[in-house]
Amino acid sequence: MTHTPQNLVILTGAGISAESGISTFRDAGGLWEGHHIEDVASPRGFARDPALVHHFYNLRRAQLACVAPNAAHLALAALERAWRAARRGQFLLITQNVDDLHERAGSQRLVHMHGELRKLRCTACDTILDWPGPATPQTPCPACARPGGTLRPDIVWFGEVPYQMETCLRALLAADIFCAIGTSGLVYPAAGFAQTALENGRACRLFEINPKPTGTDLFDDVIAEPASTGVAEFVRRLQPA
Ligand code: OAD
Repeated sequence: MTHTPQNLVILTGAGISAESGISTFRDAGGLWEGHHIEDVASPRGFARDPALVHHFYNLRRAQLACVAPNAAHLALAALERAWRAARRGQFLLITQNVDDLHERAGSQRLVHMHGELRKLRCTACDTILDWPGPATPQTPCPACARPGGTLRPDIVWFGEVPYQMETCLRALLAADIFCAIGTSGLVYPAAGFAQTALENGRACRLFEINPKPTGTDLFDDVIAEPASTGVAEFVRRLQPA
């Protein structure tokens, strides 16, 4: 039996990691672990106080050792394996999250559009380094050995261009199914992905999974549940009739 390929694009936000114990950005009134997002997630904030910013991300990085993928991360990885095995079409998982829970769950085709906690980038030589431990403004870059001050978290901050936008756009333009999970839809360009998929001329079916749905009228299916049960329901709705 042959079936028409269906290309699937998933976008995840902080809500998918909430049940693993990682705080979302905006659920607590715009503060993240007691800081204004702009102070710890902008080039200006880093220029003003690099020690504070490194300390903030050191804590987030250390927290990764204390958390584990939840049922939603695991279900997405299983869905990707099943999608490939059944040759149902292309699969791309785009995450705005900087934690590593998707890869630890087994996801393979994954874009970290806002960077990764476990990486640092040298602003002098542009090398991206795997960095499991803490860093300070004094830490020298092991690649170019310039004195400290050149290493920064490899996180895409406000005012900076997200990673792999071409890959994301290509997948969105070819998507037959799009699903946004656990994102408030307030930060562009990710906030525009549903619209791009809607207008791609492929009658793309749009899903949202969020216990507090965003209320836009773009989505065909709104699953108003936490990600753990919402992804399971999404997978059920994808079963071929
Ligand atoms: P937000 O904190 O803005 O939104 C989190 C969303 O998750 C909200 O809509 C919640 O209703 C939802 N949510 C909460 N618990 C959930 C659960 N158990 N299951 C599913 N959804 C749940 O986080 P993002 O939309 O990811 O960017 O924020 C986007 C970007 O803003 C982040 O990547 C970050 C931030 O500034 C950068 O750092 C560049």
